[in-house]
Amino acid sequence: METILEVRNLSKTYASGFQALKSVNLSIRRGEMFALLGPNGAGKTTLINIVCGIVRASEGSVLADGLDIAKDYRRVRAAIGLVPQELHTDMFETVWDTVKFSRGLFGKPPNQEYLERVLSDLSLSDKKKSKIMTLSGGMKRRVLIAKALSHEPSILFLDEPTAGVDVELRRSMWEMVRKLRERGVTIILTTHYIEEAEEMADRVGVINKGELVLVEDKHVLMQRMGKKQLRVELKSPLAALPASLNGGRALTLEPDGKSLLYTYDTQSDDTGIPSLLADLGKSGIEIRDLSTQQSSLEEIFVSLVRSGS
Ligand SMILES: Nc1ncnc2c1ncn2[C@@H]1O[C@H](COP(=O)(O)OP(=O)(O)O)[C@@H](O)[C@H]1O
Ligand SMILES: [Mg+2]
Repeated sequence: METILEVRNLSKTYASGFQALKSVNLSIRRGEMFALLGPNGAGKTTLINIVCGIVRASEGSVLADGLDIAKDYRRVRAAIGLVPQELHTDMFETVWDTVKFSRGLFGKPPNQEYLERVLSDLSLSDKKKSKIMTLSGGMKRRVLIAKALSHEPSILFLDEPTAGVDVELRRSMWEMVRKLRERGVTIILTTHYIEEAEEMADRVGVINKGELVLVEDKHVLMQRMGKKQLRVELKSPLAALPASLNGGRALTLEPDGKSLLYTYDTQSDDTGIPSLLADLGKSGIEIRDLSTQQSSLEEIFVSLVRSGS
């Protein structure tokens, strides 16, 4: 698949001496929706700000469409839309003026029809002439998205777009972002909501303490999530796993011999649980209790973030 954005060996040490990024390598594919997950302070905003030319990298390079941001800054930046994490925009301007001005800033000729469509997609048409200070928090956020889209970027960064946003607005933003993706815009979204990544992303990256610790197709992660474990507590401990039970199934005996652990796929038609229980009965093994546990993206995420600390 074609790469639209390439981050190579990117490191950032702030003037304070704090190292916020540690040699990050990442390729974003044209047209994908990529979710960058990480706890607060992981380096998500630093990474985005470097790509958008707001923060200077200490080491490494960024290529967008094959162009180096350090050498072709204006051209690269014109291809990128950024919805920043912080809500800062000129409160005294009207929605229309601020969006029109943003477009001009990136050297695009005026296009009233396009801007009207952006505002209507964001349900902001009737607020065109309103001053930004008079809008609700959710509307201000949508104005920021309109600004980011004003110059028709092919790559859109959304830095925690739904932090502190109510459930309804979150849903409608997801819907809108999906529409953009259908039009071919490459979308990179940072979030610390696992649910958002689950719902939206084609691929997921996990960043922790400045290190990219995982990049994975979402469906692959979902399959891992689909795995569940059945714990069978036994009435009397076993010295070893009986051969009669070990017919190619994912079954292990705990070191203390008191329980069996059986891993199965929740998405498969046959979990194998009925036949396991039948075989236990045939072998005369008595069960004391049964329990199941599921590994979720959340758990995978938490364990990655913990092991990195
Ligand atoms: N200008 C700065 N000077 C010094 N440290 C900074 C600066 N900006 C961010 N940091 C630190 O870098 C780390 C990563 O920050 P940030 O990229 O904002 O993380 P995230 O967006 O994942 O929450 C944090 O520990 C933060 O305190
Ligand atoms: Mg951030």
